[in-house]
Amino acid sequence: MKSHEERHWQTVYSTKDPAEVSWHQSIPRPSLKALEQIGASSAQSLVDVGGGASTLVDELLDRGWRDLAVLDISGAALEGAQTRLGQRATDVNWIAADIRNWSPQRQWDIWHDRAVFHFLVEADDRKRYKEKLLQGLAQDGALIMATFALSGPERCSGLPVRRYDASSLAAEMGPDLQFVEGWTDDHLAPWGSIQTFTWAIFRRVS
Ligand SMILES: C[S@@+](CC[C@H](N)C(=O)[O-])C[C@H]1O[C@@H](n2cnc3c(N)ncnc32)[C@H](O)[C@@H]1O
Repeated sequence: MKSHEERHWQTVYSTKDPAEVSWHQSIPRPSLKALEQIGASSAQSLVDVGGGASTLVDELLDRGWRDLAVLDISGAALEGAQTRLGQRATDVNWIAADIRNWSPQRQWDIWHDRAVFHFLVEADDRKRYKEKLLQGLAQDGALIMATFALSGPERCSGLPVRRYDASSLAAEMGPDLQFVEGWTDDHLAPWGSIQTFTWAIFRRVS
């Protein structure tokens, strides 16, 4: 049986144009900046968790990355990204799964999450997410995470979110992930309102 969350996100991606959702970015500049900041190289592997229809993979394919995966609870989101990429979609591993129930079959050098972890308002869901994170992120791998900041909206896509600053996010990630640096970034929604995000980089230390 489909979860409430899966039905929600399937409806969103089946009924809305990708450019009209609040989180849309034509170019994912903050993610590219974060990758630059950790000194990422195209020889590394990356999983975009809750990547939806983001163009991050397009940008990384353009830059020569060849070991990319996008996971999302919505198959419709992934199909949208695949259609956009055309033949290039075959160069990406697409994973239709709920992060809370997923069993990673391998490890990645970089785990990227923009605006997904903040939907986990239940402690048990966050615990499950972190278990998957530790299964799927390589030793010494990097976590790039963006959530709504403390001054950001209380809801996203009609769902409640949990907001963070860098220190509460670092406390949430725990001792296995060492906080490297954090900053805030103002995202402009397509209709002009500003949504402040907390961005943070972590390094897996155990
Ligand atoms: C606000 S959107 C952000 C999409 C993308 N990261 C971006 O920056 O454009 C949140 C995404 O998380 C996905 N999502 C929500 N809950 C999820 C879950 N439990 N497991 C996997 N994906 C989930 C949604 O389908 C959606 O694509």
